[in-house]
Amino acid sequence: MPQVTITIPATSANLGPGFDCLGVALGLYNQVTFTAVSQPSLTIAVTGLDAAKVPTDETNLVYQSACHMFDRLGKRPSGLHIQQKNNIPVGSGLGSSSTAVLAGLLGANALMDGHFSQADILAIAAAEEGHPDNVAPALLGGLVLGVMQGEQVHIEQLPIAQQQVVIVTPDFQLLTKDARAALPNQVSRQDAIFNASRLPLLIHALETAAYPKLTLAMQDKLHQPYRLPLIPGMAEAFDAAYTAGAAGVALSGAGPSLIAFAPDCHAEIVAAVTAVFHKKNLASRSWILPIDMAGSQINKLASQGTI
Ligand code: HSE
Repeated sequence: MPQVTITIPATSANLGPGFDCLGVALGLYNQVTFTAVSQPSLTIAVTGLDAAKVPTDETNLVYQSACHMFDRLGKRPSGLHIQQKNNIPVGSGLGSSSTAVLAGLLGANALMDGHFSQADILAIAAAEEGHPDNVAPALLGGLVLGVMQGEQVHIEQLPIAQQQVVIVTPDFQLLTKDARAALPNQVSRQDAIFNASRLPLLIHALETAAYPKLTLAMQDKLHQPYRLPLIPGMAEAFDAAYTAGAAGVALSGAGPSLIAFAPDCHAEIVAAVTAVFHKKNLASRSWILPIDMAGSQINKLASQGTI
């Protein structure tokens, strides 16, 4: 039976001033295997991190996204088995929902020998998410700038020096829709200039691993000032990360994860940030991760039977 396995990296969107347009892929992966079966049926099995939080019925996001692609293709297998192996925490600001959306689109397209290109899939996924800053790096790897023009998305893959980054995820639920609802609809010219001036500096500093410039470059006035107070200990966690040796610290996506860039002292930064959340009675998970440069990978096994 035809089988397709999709491997998709975690992503960290925004990186401070790049709100809704900049994201980076990280070396932490979810894997989804789609098997077409001859009997009309749907089975979904989920293992790994936060598996209990992922529905295994028709509301499953991977399945819904695959159906979206089957509808566009005008064909689908008689029955489908989906196996998800998750390493990316759910609802953490590390792009887990983007991995589900992309896995569904890429998996269904590959399973049915569909005609959709990588660019098509990126446009569909960005429209589904409403912004391209997770799906673009998850699909392409590395550091990616996404520029929306109506429904069209212009993507620019930017050079980034390979390096280790710190991720700390407090055990605190902050829904993206709530984190977005906390933002003002309008910002001052001063705040717009604040971010506009830092974004090119950030891109330059990430390309050249110019750590001393990152502290200034990762500052933001468009979303973090409104979101940090929603997460217990997050403002203190930023300070603790800097004190422990971080060069640049940001809220990862809409939170609640923190991302820190540093030339060294990664373990010390993890310990300092974890201690802050612990004082707020929050457990946390942490990772020291490389940048993923490859993006989503598709492996298709040749058909060994009839659908
Ligand atoms: N750019 C998005 C935000 C990422 O910050 O709301 C989360 O989906």
